[in-house]
Amino acid sequence: MSEQHPLQRFGEYLNKSSAEEIRQMADDTRQLISYYRCAMWEIETKFRVLDEQLSLNQSGCRIQALQSRIKTMPSIHEKLLRRGQPFTLQSIEENLFDIAGVRVICSFVDDIYLLADGLLKQDDVRLIEKKDYIQFPKDSGYRSLHLIIEIPIFLFNEKRPTKVEVQLRTIAMESWANLEHHLRYKKQLLPETKAVMDEELLECALLSHELDRKMQRLRNML
Ligand code: GTP
Ligand code: MG
Repeated sequence: MSEQHPLQRFGEYLNKSSAEEIRQMADDTRQLISYYRCAMWEIETKFRVLDEQLSLNQSGCRIQALQSRIKTMPSIHEKLLRRGQPFTLQSIEENLFDIAGVRVICSFVDDIYLLADGLLKQDDVRLIEKKDYIQFPKDSGYRSLHLIIEIPIFLFNEKRPTKVEVQLRTIAMESWANLEHHLRYKKQLLPETKAVMDEELLECALLSHELDRKMQRLRNML
């Protein structure tokens, strides 16, 4: 195993001194991450199926982009550390609900709710948590609909409920979130600069929201 390998670092964090223990930990971690990857694929497929069906409608509502990712080990470690939670496989499963993440980028705000309903109606999907940052944006100006859901993945000998975080947003919300992240992330700004940055970004979020509202109104005319 190379020195940079995250699974090796995982072993080190846990002070596992024996190579055998580290190997076992690496195997178990790979297994756990693999479950999340399968759940992520399941959700991607569910959205592709919904999109396929919607594409046959008059409205022509299409998903603009489907993105997904598995949280990296350093990022998992950082989040648990930040929350004061133990860095163990059990803790990852019990405390982190965004190991598998799927982002759905839509054209219009209504599509977001249509797709979320379409997903949540399915009888193998269990809603764990819903955060509507579209109706109730964050102080930063951030808007998106966040769902934590649980779906079963079907393995050879078991059916395993697995959690996935779904973020649904419009192109405008995605554009704002990307630029905001770029401008703000890990930047050491002077307090005055930060205050201006916060205010201007909030203003941009409102402009972006206005764009979404106008586009939705135009669409409703069709
Ligand atoms: P986390 O510890 O980040 O998971 O916080 P949380 O559990 O309170 O989750 P929340 O629902 O607030 O959203 C987390 C995710 O939403 C982040 O990983 C980002 O992808 C996105 N997000 C939330 N707030 C912002 C924001 O102000 N700006 C941007 N660009 N993205 C955000
Ligand atoms: Mg989260």
